[in-house]
Amino acid sequence: MVNGLWSREIKSGILLPRRTMGIDVVLWRSSEGLLCWRDLCIHRGARLSLGTIRPGTSSAFDADSRDCLICPYHAWEYAPTGECLRIPAQPELTPPAKARVETFAVCERYGVVWIAMGEPRDPVAEFPIAEDPGFRTVLAGPYRFRAQGPRVIENLLDVAHLGFVHAGLLGDPQRGEVEDYEVIDGNATRGPEARQIRIWQPDPDGTGTAASVNYHYWVHGPLTAGFIKTHGPQRFGILAQVAPIDAEMCESRLVMSLNYGDEFSDDELLRFQDRVTEQDRIIIESQRPELLPLDLQAELHLRSDRMAIAYRKWLRSIGLQYGTA
Ligand code: FES
Ligand SMILES: [Fe+2]
Repeated sequence: MVNGLWSREIKSGILLPRRTMGIDVVLWRSSEGLLCWRDLCIHRGARLSLGTIRPGTSSAFDADSRDCLICPYHAWEYAPTGECLRIPAQPELTPPAKARVETFAVCERYGVVWIAMGEPRDPVAEFPIAEDPGFRTVLAGPYRFRAQGPRVIENLLDVAHLGFVHAGLLGDPQRGEVEDYEVIDGNATRGPEARQIRIWQPDPDGTGTAASVNYHYWVHGPLTAGFIKTHGPQRFGILAQVAPIDAEMCESRLVMSLNYGDEFSDDELLRFQDRVTEQDRIIIESQRPELLPLDLQAELHLRSDRMAIAYRKWLRSIGLQYGTA
């Protein structure tokens, strides 16, 4: 599942083109729900996103009452199922079964649009705090990286950089030591997880008081991971998803949920996250090789890199090819 965009971006009545995993898709809201199609008409390859939506009629007696997407070139009419209903140049012809667009499974959760570019294998990642009325959720990004997705996710799972890359924001270079922590390795049905990682932060809750906080990290899919930071009763979580755009670029979107900090506006939280991500981006885009090496001999790994090691081992075990070497 890739998170290609936010739900709020897809207004009814518009055709929204996107490129994800090297494929051009078009998204639109029909009377039968949100749809994600390959942005390509089977007839002569025109972009369907240049076409129009014809709203269906509400008549139950009308066989053609569904919404249709009409191709801009020869006006073939496609129903929400992707099948072609009518070819105006030959109105008497029943369109052949091959006359249909390629469709992708799509769903919405946490304000995020999740697209399965193949057979959907896993459900959307669980992130209960984003649906908990005691938490506020803010959507951050998209953040664009000229980098491979696995490097971006590994950065999210990396605790040893917090005191240095994010000095003064998420860590303290004088207290950069990472205490040992446990990692539960991933298996065929779930990714790795690490609990109770203690990090010293200069200002974990915006009150200006330094404290030690606990991080819990988990990997849901090759390009989906999250963490929850706990500081007393305060919790702050991020569910991060990286969507490859093509072979060179990817973008990440973050669902951020927290149960404190009402004194900060959404904009202030976003500006903080933008700053943090920009610090990461410079490092991530500098990393060589670009492809994440899954051979553990290829880079140097230490005890404090346990979670990254577990992530690489797990990617290897599931045979991920994209963005890895
Ligand atoms: S290319 Fe779409 S109808 Fe001809
Ligand atoms: Fe970071």
